[in-house]
Amino acid sequence: MGKSFSLRPRDGNPPPRTAETPSGMINSIGLENKGLDAFRADIYPRFARLGTLRIASLVGERPEEYRALAEAMAALEGIDAVELNLSCPNVEEGGRTFGKDPRAVERITREVRARFPRPVWTKLTPGVSSMAVLARAAEAGGADAVTVMNTLVGMSVDWARAHSRIGSPTGGVSGPAVKPLALANVWQVASCVGVPVVASGGASCARDVLEFMTVGARAVQVGTAFFMRPTAGSEILAQLPELLAGAGLRSAEEAIGRFRPRHEPPGHADG
Ligand SMILES: Cc1cc2nc3c(=O)[nH]c(=O)nc-3n(C[C@H](O)[C@H](O)[C@H](O)COP(=O)(O)O)c2cc1C
Repeated sequence: MGKSFSLRPRDGNPPPRTAETPSGMINSIGLENKGLDAFRADIYPRFARLGTLRIASLVGERPEEYRALAEAMAALEGIDAVELNLSCPNVEEGGRTFGKDPRAVERITREVRARFPRPVWTKLTPGVSSMAVLARAAEAGGADAVTVMNTLVGMSVDWARAHSRIGSPTGGVSGPAVKPLALANVWQVASCVGVPVVASGGASCARDVLEFMTVGARAVQVGTAFFMRPTAGSEILAQLPELLAGAGLRSAEEAIGRFRPRHEPPGHADG
């Protein structure tokens, strides 16, 4: 999880608002960020000093914005990989989300791949009939990994005042409520592509992480859980060895893909 960096500042966004559901979160924060120049000047110098892998999330409204961001990230040695957030509306194609169009997924992945010399991950959007088709498009475009999945569209409405609790009418749903959907999508995608799948969607404990790995994820992102428990990451790492030992496994690597049934995708993803 994290902020996506675009070329332009988004000062005009409404104030960030989130609402917690009993088992998750819905947010309308949008893709608010300070833009590429501020990232290079203020954030990157601190980011580059972190003792971990550094993965930058990129977003744009036009293909050329992704190209420009890829070139900018290539020049920053401290960026180990980029993740393409394709959840933004494509202004050149009437506002259709890039990420729901397999041709756009393949094209943008290919264009970034040609400009950024380190790993490129393509993050896939749910809300299509087959994420596996999108994943194959990303793989055809040269993605080194695919991330499954971004948030789902949802609403939170105060019925008495008949207004949205999150500012805009709809927002992105995340957290434990979406985990069964994310798990199914990770399984389907992992069955259909050769590149590694990075799971994202509702993981909040070590058992969740191992469930995602069992259906084929090679890595698992944790987002919303940090809003609920800032210590979630270290807790998950601490819990893993005991769970693995209980199942007779020596490492998390051994858990990957143990769920054997395979998914057959349909021929196209509709948006
Ligand atoms: C407050 C908030 C902000 C987010 N911002 C971004 C973003 O800027 N770019 C992006 O690709 N995903 C963003 N996401 C989606 C997360 O990265 C993640 O894919 C999703 O929340 C599902 O994982 P989780 O249930 O572990 O949070 C955001 C999610 C939340 C809750």
